[in-house]
Amino acid sequence: MKKILVSRHLFPEVIERLHALFEVDYHDANDALAPPDLAARLADKDGMMLMLTDKLDAQIIAVAPKLEVASNVAVGYNNIDVPACTAASIMVTNTPGVLNETTADMVWALLMASARRVVAADKWVRDGQWQSWQFMDRWLGQDVHGATLGILGMGRIGQAIAKRAQGFDMRVIYHNRTPQSDVKDATWVQKNILFAEADFLVVMVPYSPATHHLIGAAELAQMKPTAHLINVARGGVVDDAALIAALKNRQIGGAGLDVFEGEPALNPAFFDLDNVTLTPHIGSSTRATRMAMAMCAADNLIAALSGQTPPNLLNPEVMSSA
Ligand code: GLV
Ligand code: GLV
Repeated sequence: MKKILVSRHLFPEVIERLHALFEVDYHDANDALAPPDLAARLADKDGMMLMLTDKLDAQIIAVAPKLEVASNVAVGYNNIDVPACTAASIMVTNTPGVLNETTADMVWALLMASARRVVAADKWVRDGQWQSWQFMDRWLGQDVHGATLGILGMGRIGQAIAKRAQGFDMRVIYHNRTPQSDVKDATWVQKNILFAEADFLVVMVPYSPATHHLIGAAELAQMKPTAHLINVARGGVVDDAALIAALKNRQIGGAGLDVFEGEPALNPAFFDLDNVTLTPHIGSSTRATRMAMAMCAADNLIAALSGQTPPNLLNPEVMSSA
């Protein structure tokens, strides 16, 4: 029987499937394995299921000589050094598709919460500060309906976000390096137009060295003072220190953030701002979607260790070199 590592607590239904086929070393906990422990447990493994907080780098790969497949239980895979895996003939897979709609829902949850200050208002009510009803001043928000939605990075999740905007009679603009021919509900614009005209700017690009601080002080300075920035993609795409300065100086209206640089240890200056809504990287976190992601990752792992091409193989070059 082939040996696999499952790096984190996972649905019992998925573990049962894996147990039927493999010898499973199960780290049945919510805390990540420290890199030395991860390395030690990979020494005799043929495959692994890993999470976005597990770093699979050249150092760990070097001490996992039998590893054939790394199945990431996420669509993003910036936690994995894919070229290093390819060089070591390790297949890398992710879970695209199954989380698009759920992640788009979360973008809308943060967008609307930020526009109407839902979380700050909830806190105000709980703190017993609601002494008199106000017609204006404290709780004036931004209209979502009829506004301009800007999407930076129009992939499948971006398109699911754009589709939802139709019900709010929004104008939807987007920017990708190359305009997409198959985008129905949005118009391609230059990046500077996107920043200048969006009332709500949604970041939906994967993290890589090329997208590091794609949104920094210069980009934030182009935005409307009433605009809201929403990031459910990856920390590091936005320069958090620059964003904090822009929020503090009311250079933009607000932000809804699910991902951060250095998470979970985010910049504490966020906590002092009343115009930011913070969630703990839960974009795909519904029961149905997390189950679908785990099953998809299991499918990839099982295919790879049965000599088949996994459905979501990220480095097909390994097949020809094998
Ligand atoms: C979540 O962040 C994912 O990449 O699936
Ligand atoms: C990202 O994975 C996207 O599809 O936008």
